[in-house]
Amino acid sequence: GKGQYDHYMLKEIDEQPDSLANTLSGRITDDGDVSLEEFPPGTFEDVDEVQFVACGTSYHAALYGVQALENAGVRARATIASEYQTPTVDENTLAVAVTQSGETADTLSALRAAEAAGAETVAVTNVVGSSAAREADHALYIRAGPEIGVAATKTFSSQVATLTMLSHRLADDLEQGTPREDAAEFFSELEKLPEYVEQTLKTSNAKAVSERYLDKGSYFFIGRDNEYPVALEGALKFKEITYEHAEGFASGELKHGPLALVTPNAAVFALFTGRRGEGTRKNAEEAHTRGANVIGVATHGTDVGGFADATLRVPETHPDIAGLLANVQLQLVSYHTANMLEREIDKPRNLAKSVTVE
Ligand code: F6R
Repeated sequence: GKGQYDHYMLKEIDEQPDSLANTLSGRITDDGDVSLEEFPPGTFEDVDEVQFVACGTSYHAALYGVQALENAGVRARATIASEYQTPTVDENTLAVAVTQSGETADTLSALRAAEAAGAETVAVTNVVGSSAAREADHALYIRAGPEIGVAATKTFSSQVATLTMLSHRLADDLEQGTPREDAAEFFSELEKLPEYVEQTLKTSNAKAVSERYLDKGSYFFIGRDNEYPVALEGALKFKEITYEHAEGFASGELKHGPLALVTPNAAVFALFTGRRGEGTRKNAEEAHTRGANVIGVATHGTDVGGFADATLRVPETHPDIAGLLANVQLQLVSYHTANMLEREIDKPRNLAKSVTVE
């Protein structure tokens, strides 16, 4: 049950230190390497391209996975499952279906299309024995535990953590791959992710920030690199449970159109936790110049700049991990905003937890 909580969503946001600890458990070695029981070293030697297929939040996790692979020199792309119509794959393609439920119809049909075209397939899923797990050649479980709220929260962070580890295995196995040089340091930081999430939850000012911008007409979320998927995810969660107009953009795209929407009636959440946070600064400043309220999301040590109207802070960690902490702050902003607006939260209108029709 919900216990002391009014909503499953907040319970599940708060569960992330535990669910992430479960996701990571036994999968990182003492010397800071990845060890996946499902995929011993050498499993993916013949792979030359990775193609993710997924929907919604899982698609955003897949985009995070693409970043990790491309940074390690591995060819990778993510396609929204319902757009995966004529896959260009061969037996050296690894198609990875990312699906919390393992039952999403669009994702299952993309998985089947990849399989029919001759790709090797993996299901990254939360549900043991789900259709995706049974139909794919391999299953990799994210171990987040049951998620009841329609909005995916803890499963997103566990998907990203899982894909980060899978990406390292791939980079290690593939000839084209150059596994990260800072692997030992990176994976010891990843192991501390549950602690960092705990700190983020304990010190969050997301409720006060939400209250301050409750009357805005639009909410924008901007970021670069692996913060781009976090921006998309922040906006999806926000629109899904608050019913307010929200959009996520790659920060560099703002000037190519969306800036026309930026007025004093907008709140812009700008992500500064990644490697290219500096690049987002100019874009956030432009939004500020147009009169929007800019809310910076940054580590404690980052100087956000005078143009920010408010700041959401996260602990200092590796920039490829900090995006997940930023995401926790954005989950809380969505939750508190929806709660103050008295929305349904756990069962938003028109939506189902698992979409089993195409
Ligand atoms: C958003 C949300 C949906 C799902 C999507 C895919 O909060 O939950 O966007 O992420 O329907 O579902 P799965 O991961 O079960 O395939």
